[in-house]
Amino acid sequence: MTTNVAITGCGIHTPDNVVSNEELCAAFNAWVRRENDRRADAIAAGEATLLEESSPAFIEKASGIRFRHVVDREGILDPERMVPYIPERPDDEMSIQCEYAVAAAKEALAEAGLRGQDIDLIILANSSLQRAYPAVAIEVQHALGAGGYAYDMSVGCSSATFPIQIATDALRAGSATRALLVNPEIMSGHANWTDRDSHFIFGDAATAVVLERTESARPGAFEILGVRCMSTYSSNIRNNFGYLNRCDPERRNDPDKLFYQAGRRVFKEIVPLAASFILEHIRALGIDPERIDRYWLHQANSNMNSLIARRILGRPAESHEAPQVLGEYGNTASAGSIIAFHDHRSDLESGALGVICSFGAGYSIANVVVRRQ
Ligand code: COA
Repeated sequence: MTTNVAITGCGIHTPDNVVSNEELCAAFNAWVRRENDRRADAIAAGEATLLEESSPAFIEKASGIRFRHVVDREGILDPERMVPYIPERPDDEMSIQCEYAVAAAKEALAEAGLRGQDIDLIILANSSLQRAYPAVAIEVQHALGAGGYAYDMSVGCSSATFPIQIATDALRAGSATRALLVNPEIMSGHANWTDRDSHFIFGDAATAVVLERTESARPGAFEILGVRCMSTYSSNIRNNFGYLNRCDPERRNDPDKLFYQAGRRVFKEIVPLAASFILEHIRALGIDPERIDRYWLHQANSNMNSLIARRILGRPAESHEAPQVLGEYGNTASAGSIIAFHDHRSDLESGALGVICSFGAGYSIANVVVRRQ
């Protein structure tokens, strides 16, 4: 008999600091004016290009983002700096990714009615890991007093959903009994706050989900009916930061060591890819797209999500069918679809069906179909 698995708890954690589009653009535009003044001679000689200002109206229209939570406001809003202040911590202090993961995990564990020691598998997954080793997941395991084993993994913006596949398999196979999946995304650290095309995209957040076999799940948990993952190589969303950068000192601080993308191309390619992937998966489970009560989609761009939902349903989605959290959180990478799930699930009745889907760098897509118990 197949063992069924359910999401029994979900938690999120965000920093208290919030930055609006207006504040962000004021700092960015001050930096642009300063840079243009500094390079005036080179610009006049045609050796440098005049930088253009950013606008809050463009940001909201192009992305749906109005605010983002960030670890540090001061550094981002300082035109002399344009990088957040996130001081290194000594090795005997909890790392920031561990701190954020633990805060989200505590909420998820409380909802599941569990303690740290009840967990025997932790996967920490995000788009940028803070260090090479020891795994931050093992630090989280230690902080929570969990047993079993823990490890880190990274699949860009699909880092919250790919581990759902792995943990579901582990629980079914019996190699773990209760799993905690955590996604600390300190996106402000890898965003290029001086890049007009992308300076507004990211926000910081952490998410966590607890997975258990359905026989031990509480009422109201979300049974996993199916998980499907895919990947196909693309360089359109990229970050070349890595441990080999120091071996080429002349290039180690180039902008490609931060997030960069061909945003329009990503938009055009991901919309049909994600929509058909979701459709094929739910149809393979014998479910008609209209029977899905809620689509918790990856939160990168509001126009993109509207189009994906429209392609799935063959009509525009109502806001409650595919809720968006971009306005308040920005793009929090892998945390986005789980934040949407966390904030927009309490009203669903027993038997309601939902889809959690992430898509992003790689490209990578993972789709999780759930039913409320
Ligand atoms: N302020 C004002 N204008 C801006 C601007 C800014 N910050 N950034 C770009 N523009 C201008 C461009 O110069 C361009 O002007 P033009 O038409 O005169 O040439 C115009 O706005 C459109 O630029 P474009 O880059 O085509 O915008 P877009 O509508 O594609 O929106 C993104 C940009 C990034 C919001 C959008 O492409 C996107 O979200 N793509 C998906 C990205 C994604 O999912 N990535 C995954 C990340 S993890």
